[in-house]
Amino acid sequence: MGERIAVFGAGYAGLVTAAGFADLGHQVVVRDVVPEKVDALRAGRVPFHEPGLEEVIARVGDRLRFTLDYQEAVEGARFVFVCVGTPATYSGDADLSAVWTVLDELRDLADGAVVVMKSTVPVGTGDTVRAALDARGLTHIGYVSNPEFLAEGSAVKDFLEPDRIVIGSFQEADGDAVERLHDGLDAPSVRTDVPSAEMVKLAANAYLGTRISFINEIANVCELVGADVETVAWGMGLDSRIGTRYLQAGIGFGGSCFPKDISFLKLLAGNSGYHFQLLNSVIEVNELQKRRVVSKLQKHLGSLRGKTIALLGLAFKANTDDMREAPSIVLASRLLAEGADVRTWDPVADASSILRGVTFAETVLEAVRDADAAVVVTGWDELRDLPRAEIRDAMRVPLIVDGRNVVDPGAARSAGFTYEGIGRASTSPLAGLPETDEPAIAEHSPEA
Ligand SMILES: NC(=O)c1ccc[n+]([C@@H]2O[C@H](COP(=O)([O-])OP(=O)(O)OC[C@H]3O[C@@H](n4cnc5c(N)ncnc54)[C@H](O)[C@@H]3O)[C@@H](O)[C@H]2O)c1
Repeated sequence: MGERIAVFGAGYAGLVTAAGFADLGHQVVVRDVVPEKVDALRAGRVPFHEPGLEEVIARVGDRLRFTLDYQEAVEGARFVFVCVGTPATYSGDADLSAVWTVLDELRDLADGAVVVMKSTVPVGTGDTVRAALDARGLTHIGYVSNPEFLAEGSAVKDFLEPDRIVIGSFQEADGDAVERLHDGLDAPSVRTDVPSAEMVKLAANAYLGTRISFINEIANVCELVGADVETVAWGMGLDSRIGTRYLQAGIGFGGSCFPKDISFLKLLAGNSGYHFQLLNSVIEVNELQKRRVVSKLQKHLGSLRGKTIALLGLAFKANTDDMREAPSIVLASRLLAEGADVRTWDPVADASSILRGVTFAETVLEAVRDADAAVVVTGWDELRDLPRAEIRDAMRVPLIVDGRNVVDPGAARSAGFTYEGIGRASTSPLAGLPETDEPAIAEHSPEA
């Protein structure tokens, strides 16, 4: 029969959690505040792009239900998972208003019910929530921190095959109960106190962001000294002390988690009297990395005024439609500021309400037609074969700036493209021409 679980928030984290627990045999009711979302979910449609999620929702049948009514969600629930958004405020601190709204709705919980915080929150939030619950006379309600580590694009697999399950509790019995909910998953549990569980989440994301900024700086040095960052990262990563993942050089990280979680940790440290020097650099390197693409384009095209630049991929990474903190947003606005015409394409992300002044193309071919450069912004698989004759012939200037190193430079060169990656030697079909002050490559002429 499973346990009765309420999940508040039908976003990437909440919906995957809900579907995952239903798949493990529990009875789950998801509550959200957006009527269109709930309508779509009731009709079996997932309102965002997450591979495999619709299939899980279909197979769990009526073990997973959706509602707008918080009372319906909490009625009879033994566990209430809080999965609402915790975006950064303008100051970079966590905006916990949605979390507090949910907590205000939890007055009718049964004895022994447990509130489980999945949303990413600053360390200390659990203590504050515990005190607030106690002050409201809800001392019989347990509280557990159970941070979520899923990555968008592989979220279903991450739920069903987690590396670990982190459970921080005030009462051991509450932690035991939450641990039992995961029966059927093959993963070690890390049982700890609430602040340590909260810190695991922030530290893990800050560390992953640090690796990305680190390899991006290595890439930038590689460009200056003639080394290839792809080989360097592989050679480093095969060291079992290091590992190969999250060592992919590119145009910087984005998304709804890394930027804000790193900011939360930096400010948490600052507010607690510690200056987290390293994280300042991680953030600064990441900001600068997004802008380096502009100088790569200028290196080849000179002034970008009046040039047409195709941005291929808009989502913050492949296999998601999430535009939150996507590097494409910074890049598009920098290019517009330089006077370029910006064309964009993405297979799933809808950025029409976010990006102003750009043109949206339906296909890669439409995006690159008569363009002076194609910039790979998101590492979509379908961009790996970008260097093909059809694309080259459509472009005014056959220039690829590969912000994700997904294109094979050799293939680009032999297909007649000038290629510029991140931390790799640039290749050009026109290499060897004497340097001039003019843009380094001529307009493409199919006859030439
Ligand atoms: N997206 C990820 O990859 C990921 C991974 C790990 C952790 N997290 C964390 O999980 C939390 C949620 O992130 P997300 O990406 O799923 O956010 P999201 O914005 O996709 O989803 C949040 C959902 O909560 C709903 N909501 C807002 N107020 C509500 C309320 N009072 N009651 C019920 N629902 C309400 C919103 O309508 C929205 O559907 C954040 O703290 C995030 O840091 C996210």
